[in-house]
Amino acid sequence: MTSLTGRSFLKEFDFTPAEWRSLLDLAAQLKDERRRGVEQQRLVGRTIALIFEKSSSRTRSSFEVAAFHQGAHTTYFDPSGSHIRGKESIVDTALLFGRMFDAIEYRGFGQDTVEDLAKYSGVPVWNGLTDEWHPTQTLADQLTILERVGKPLNQVSIAYLGDARNNVGNSVLAGGALMGMDVRMVAPKALHNTDEVVAQARGVAEQTGARITLTDNVAEGVAGADVIYTDVWVSMGEPEEVWAERIALLRPYQVNAALMTATGNPDAIALHCLPAYHDRNTTVGEKVFQLTGMDALEITDEVFQAQREVIFDQAENRMHTIKAVMVATLGA
Ligand code: CP
Ligand code: NVA
Repeated sequence: MTSLTGRSFLKEFDFTPAEWRSLLDLAAQLKDERRRGVEQQRLVGRTIALIFEKSSSRTRSSFEVAAFHQGAHTTYFDPSGSHIRGKESIVDTALLFGRMFDAIEYRGFGQDTVEDLAKYSGVPVWNGLTDEWHPTQTLADQLTILERVGKPLNQVSIAYLGDARNNVGNSVLAGGALMGMDVRMVAPKALHNTDEVVAQARGVAEQTGARITLTDNVAEGVAGADVIYTDVWVSMGEPEEVWAERIALLRPYQVNAALMTATGNPDAIALHCLPAYHDRNTTVGEKVFQLTGMDALEITDEVFQAQREVIFDQAENRMHTIKAVMVATLGA
């Protein structure tokens, strides 16, 4: 067992493969203990700050529910209800919260903010999504793959389709590299991960045996894949004006029935971090339909419904894996 006590959880590349694996193992153990009704509380009396500068349904729920299961208390700071940034800098907030709380979760914009919180607070800080990384998502994705694909991760091939340079795209690549996976980033060249992220992933892959492919060719990218992964084409914090360009670029990368067939693998699963634009039942989905006639964006409703159980397992696994991060870094 690798001790992560007192550590922050900021991005995948901060961890060794063994450390990362220990978090997946702990998450599976905690999930099993909960199912069997024998969960032990390892965070009794702990206080946790949850800072959200962007919206959330899954991540917030996961931190709050997992903390409750484990006996900890959370205080939620929404994007407007505190002095954070407005009257008080991130560094001063970190100094304050380090005195009040035993750990801090942060969701927001630049990775530098979560790094500064960790540097100045003196307590474990957990990244609940930044512009650059979404590492708690990666743990949930990989736990779902272990459960659903039934092969060790280093025998699994995963193809990510969409805006590969976004937080989830970077995290799929980094997490796949750590676990020795066959990772294909399938996107138009303009949306590939930065050279820096790719270089880091290739460096990790040299130790883990991961295969890293960047391609703009859908057929080549998805051939033989066990897992097809997609995410929204425009991320939180991006201006509305980018929608038109992004739709034009990414339309050929939509996860639809033909793309699933193109894997040549009838058992291939589809993952989505959610929320997803798979129908017109959202304000953005309807607006895009009115403008383009597309009734789904990154994933069709047909594929979404066919994969619904898998995708909502993935969502549930956010809670079990976030609990593992909290217990490993803060637990008694
Ligand atoms: N996948 C994810 O992070 O979802 P939320 O934005 O709802 O937290
Ligand atoms: N890339 C998406 C992920 C949402 C969980 C975003 O940042 O909006």
